Amino acid sequence: MTQKVRKAVIPAAGLGTRFLPATKALAKEMLPIVDKPTLQFILEEALKSGIEDILVVTNKAKRSIEDHFDSNFELEYNLKEKEKNDLLKLVDEATAIRLHFIRQSYPRGLGDAVLQAKAFVGNEPFVVMLGDDLMDITNPNAVPLTKQLMDDYEKTHASTIAVMPVPHEEVSAYGVIAPQGEGINGLYSVDTFVEKPAPDEAPSDLAIIGRYLLTPEIFAILENQAPGAGNEIQLTDAIDTLNKTQRVFAREFKGDRYDVGDKFGFMKTSIDYALQHPQVKDDLKQYLIELGKKLDDTK
Ligand code: UTP
Repeated sequence: MTQKVRKAVIPAAGLGTRFLPATKALAKEMLPIVDKPTLQFILEEALKSGIEDILVVTNKAKRSIEDHFDSNFELEYNLKEKEKNDLLKLVDEATAIRLHFIRQSYPRGLGDAVLQAKAFVGNEPFVVMLGDDLMDITNPNAVPLTKQLMDDYEKTHASTIAVMPVPHEEVSAYGVIAPQGEGINGLYSVDTFVEKPAPDEAPSDLAIIGRYLLTPEIFAILENQAPGAGNEIQLTDAIDTLNKTQRVFAREFKGDRYDVGDKFGFMKTSIDYALQHPQVKDDLKQYLIELGKKLDDTK
């Protein structure tokens, strides 16, 4: 019988160097998209997918994550007193999510961050959701990518990694797959998984994005994984090893992905989301139209 996927691990212990200096003391996973922290979108995707138990991997600089998902008695009392019930509801939404936390002592890489979840996960399949990668946040009707991976697992009983095509010159920022053939309905068998290949050595333009469904055998591999690209323990390298003893599939994501950990990615995420936000969308649209005219005039 297939084991149900119930648990999610959210690595959020990276240094966020692409977003310095903002991320010196502030967790990039807490950067707000209009008015909601990035991480809250990810938790919503997890819950919408049917995940029941969530572990966030943090470090000592990321206290704000634990605080955000804890109650804030003073704030709640104050909002209640002033009968600001709409705001109270928004604040309560964050507190209602039950989370576990563990710290990664040193930023040794994504593979090492996932290894911290070994005891939490036990002997079950689980998902990894990267704390700075948002999917389909402007399309509430889309099937969440995490759910797509879980649906694949029901059929294949195998690890499945989300991928999507990226511009060829950008492949070296990602893990990349060497697919076997064309894939069936967006699901690929994979020959190899390669972390950060040079563009002329990349086996394809299908890059690994921030959602993974993994079987627990990954932990034994991670425990012995030598540092790879960037001298970090790479999850991609461990997945490549796993693929040699049990099948690992890749699921092509067809929706919109937002890389909040990148400065321009963060700006695009904020604009796209704001264009749907009831409180700001009209003003923003007007502003963008005026800005477009100004830019035209300066051509
Ligand atoms: P990134 O490479 O995007 O994160 O890792 P980073 O290292 O924080 O960012 P830059 O490149 O320096 O700007 C992908 C995910 O893995 C987590 C990050 O928090 C991010 O969600 N991660 C990475 C860890 O939890 N621990 C690590 O040691 C490395």
